[in-house]
Amino acid sequence: MENKIVVANLKMNMLKSDISKYLKETKNLINTNRVVICPTSIYIPYFLNQKYSVGIQDLHYDNDGICTGEVTPKQAKSMGINFAIIGHSERRKYFEENDDLINKKVVSATKEGIKTIVCIGETKEERNMLKTAKVLRKQLIKDLNGANLDNVIIAYEPIWAIGSNIICNETDISKTAIYIKQLVKNYFNYNNIKVIYGGSVNEENIKDISKIEEIDGVLVGSSSIDSSKFLKIIEVACS
Ligand code: PGA
Repeated sequence: MENKIVVANLKMNMLKSDISKYLKETKNLINTNRVVICPTSIYIPYFLNQKYSVGIQDLHYDNDGICTGEVTPKQAKSMGINFAIIGHSERRKYFEENDDLINKKVVSATKEGIKTIVCIGETKEERNMLKTAKVLRKQLIKDLNGANLDNVIIAYEPIWAIGSNIICNETDISKTAIYIKQLVKNYFNYNNIKVIYGGSVNEENIKDISKIEEIDGVLVGSSSIDSSKFLKIIEVACS
């Protein structure tokens, strides 16, 4: 599993005291920059200067201005944050982020040299109606337009698999990764895109997911909050 990456999306979890415990439990045990931890943004400084990489869960597209509460790509970069998650399904759903907005963010972050994890995925209804390929195609074409693709990682996260304990089956993950890579190649003339999988990844299913050749890593939500589970996932995926 030499080149696989493992991204932790800690979302809104943990208080300051939990963070200290988590850091103690993981300290010196994560020895690779192929692990990317994305804490709630106010906690990011605690995670910096370790062997792993640090990411932010969202970014604004502007590099200056007056948008209260937002963080710019340049600010993130200046803190030593090298990764960003953009277009997570929770942002699409609860903040009504559409592909136009996501595209602006992806273009801006990738221009700043931030490795941008662009999340795409279908709902259960879309899947049942056999619309997965169509949905992913639309998201990819819109979200990646004009982006520096050297700095893009696609996270295929079927929405119905997120936080549900229902994982997408390995054949479908593999087929979808091939589809995404082919589409990016044909449409953007770009050969090297990385595709990771997210949605109920845990310490038990990581072995099988890691065996999927076309998948370049995983995005882990709830199982990354428990340090012992997360360390097991890293051990399998990065060994
Ligand atoms: P999950 O979350 O691992 O809890 O399903 C994944 C995500 O939201 O990125």
